[in-house]
Amino acid sequence: MKKIAVITRDCAGVNAALRSVVRSASAKGVEVLGVMRGYDGLIDADLMSLDRRAVSGIINRGGTILKTSRSLRFKSANWQKQAVMTIRDQRIDGLIVIGGNGSLTGAHILASRYSIPVVGIPATIDNDVNGVTMTIGADTAINVALDALDKIRDTATSLERIFVVEVMGRNCGYIALRVALAAGCEDVIIPERKFNLKKISENIVEGNIRGKRSWITIVAEGKAKASKVASEITRLTGLETRIVVLGHVQRGGSPTAFDRILAARYGHFAVSVLLKGKTDCCVALRNDQLTTVSLAKAIQKKDIEASEYYRLIQILT
Ligand code: F6P
Repeated sequence: MKKIAVITRDCAGVNAALRSVVRSASAKGVEVLGVMRGYDGLIDADLMSLDRRAVSGIINRGGTILKTSRSLRFKSANWQKQAVMTIRDQRIDGLIVIGGNGSLTGAHILASRYSIPVVGIPATIDNDVNGVTMTIGADTAINVALDALDKIRDTATSLERIFVVEVMGRNCGYIALRVALAAGCEDVIIPERKFNLKKISENIVEGNIRGKRSWITIVAEGKAKASKVASEITRLTGLETRIVVLGHVQRGGSPTAFDRILAARYGHFAVSVLLKGKTDCCVALRNDQLTTVSLAKAIQKKDIEASEYYRLIQILT
């Protein structure tokens, strides 16, 4: 392989992974092109040459220097063919796609339908890529949310208030469970478990009688809206509530050491996997060992282990 291209989605650690890909490929004498704005850039042949210097000073930067988009055009076969034309015209021998489920689904289409050599790098705050223990960006998202939660706790305690805090994660409760446990929250509502607002409200009232006056419930966006949960708690308990929706703050910011190290390892490994001729797969971490998983499997729904964390949160309340 003489020339490869990289497509990125955005979350903390993506730039660090891009840096690793570019420098690992350069070390093997392989030229790298960066695709601007995700799959749209492949359709429009919007590419930039990336040498070692081009990725200087980005290891600590959030987002993606290549910019990104959710390409609606790439969903149609005609535009996919246009993207493949760009790959052929530019003599691109292989592709590395850094992103979550949507990006990896696109990668799988290019590899399986158009025989383009593609390797994915899982990067999403949701940590919902099947067969992968950790995606780039999840650890930073948890730490960003934790920092916010510690601040919210100060107010909750001082004013003896009930807070309902909504975190991201799409249809996965990974972030919510970790944040709830790390911040010492009283309850958590996640897609992986049924929830009972009556029971949650009873617990709050009982706690109140025992003298516990502040309460933080974490809600995963994939299960419920913080506003609805809060108004229901107020209706059932007669107590005042406040909501916080953390939203996109969790996706940006400087990556944690964990995410930077993961990005460095994934980027380097993805290049070596691609150069060895493996395709239609995604790099993965299992038991701290680098491995691969097929893209067909990676984009399936991931079942996370929720019970242990959930139980622990209830016991430690
Ligand atoms: O997949 C990452 C994520 O941040 C999810 O947690 C969230 O549901 C979604 O993306 C938000 O998407 P957008 O940035 O397009 O609003």
